[in-house]
Amino acid sequence: MKVVAVENFADPSFSADLIGWQKVHGRHVLPWQNTRDAYLIWLSEIMLQQTQVSAVLGYYARFLERFPTLRDLAAAPVEDVMAQWSGLGYYTRARNLHKCAQRVVAEYHGVFPADPLLLAELPGIGRSTAAAIAAFSSGRRAAIMDGNVKRVFARVFGIDTYPGERKTEEAMWRRAEALLPEEGIESYTQGLMDMGATLCTRSSPSCERCPMQPRCVAFATSRTRDLPVRKPKKATPEKHAVMLAIVDNGQVLLEQRPPSGIWGGLLSLPELDGHVALEDDETPEAGHDALLRAVSRFGEMESCERLSTVTHVFTHYKLHIAPHRVTLARRLPMAAEPGNIWLDAAHIADAALPAPIKKLLLELLGDQRDAQQRMF
Ligand code: ADE
Repeated sequence: MKVVAVENFADPSFSADLIGWQKVHGRHVLPWQNTRDAYLIWLSEIMLQQTQVSAVLGYYARFLERFPTLRDLAAAPVEDVMAQWSGLGYYTRARNLHKCAQRVVAEYHGVFPADPLLLAELPGIGRSTAAAIAAFSSGRRAAIMDGNVKRVFARVFGIDTYPGERKTEEAMWRRAEALLPEEGIESYTQGLMDMGATLCTRSSPSCERCPMQPRCVAFATSRTRDLPVRKPKKATPEKHAVMLAIVDNGQVLLEQRPPSGIWGGLLSLPELDGHVALEDDETPEAGHDALLRAVSRFGEMESCERLSTVTHVFTHYKLHIAPHRVTLARRLPMAAEPGNIWLDAAHIADAALPAPIKKLLLELLGDQRDAQQRMF
């Protein structure tokens, strides 16, 4: 027999406790509260996406002075809308706001639909924003889900998987739907926002004042610091490069790197192409034939010595450099290789070289430079 786990997220006491707390301790005098005007509510919800209340207040008042109604906004040139938004950031919001106003005028006679599914089809309105607008302007039962709600849920219910992961987020949405109250959606929705913004903050949450404390898994297990789980760090990719330090007569052969990509435009050591991806603890050895072929562009190889691997850490990956010190029996003229130069050991310190290559070369050629200096 197949056993299927049935999730039962419903718990009417959750919304009852939250609504009771919101009515006494929540926020009640924000400029977009105490109204059912969808225009005023929609504008606030768009401005409050990714932006804190304190930053929105001034913009909200000025915006409504300039565009008192949805029709004023829809009829205005987009440049005027952008000018009013200037400084608030995330400017796609402003362009979508203008488009949305025009769509509501054209498709809904200037009246926002009450159905959250229809709201979510308008520009700039996602599922959560649609739910907030529908709840505040029409009392519709619909679930919101933003960073604050995810934090509250992760802590209260002890959700210990990353909320940005699709499965976790989907489960959070199902939980949010199941917890919706039969009545009082406005206070409930505002309560979730208020709790997330004022009590259940990211650092130093005020658990002693929290209505959810008796049921909070994170509080009971002293894990408020660890929940929600932070984004898991991806393993840093590792790359390998075989580089040739071709040294001849107190000079080293360098080539200019292409203008884009790592170390763009800097001088560096010639690299062997076609090196393979290797296991973590392996380091590449250039095959003898590949080496001969690479060196033959510059001269006739006399000897080759594999030096110790140098690891350089970039922001997005680690580069393991396997340097090979090559000496030449005979040097070819350089005319055919415009990007290449022979650099005197004495000039390495001042050359436009990437730091790890400069360090490697100074270590490698330091002796020769000393020898040269000693000669004079
Ligand atoms: N953040 C998003 N919507 C909000 C609202 N209606 N009140 C306070 N903060 C919010």
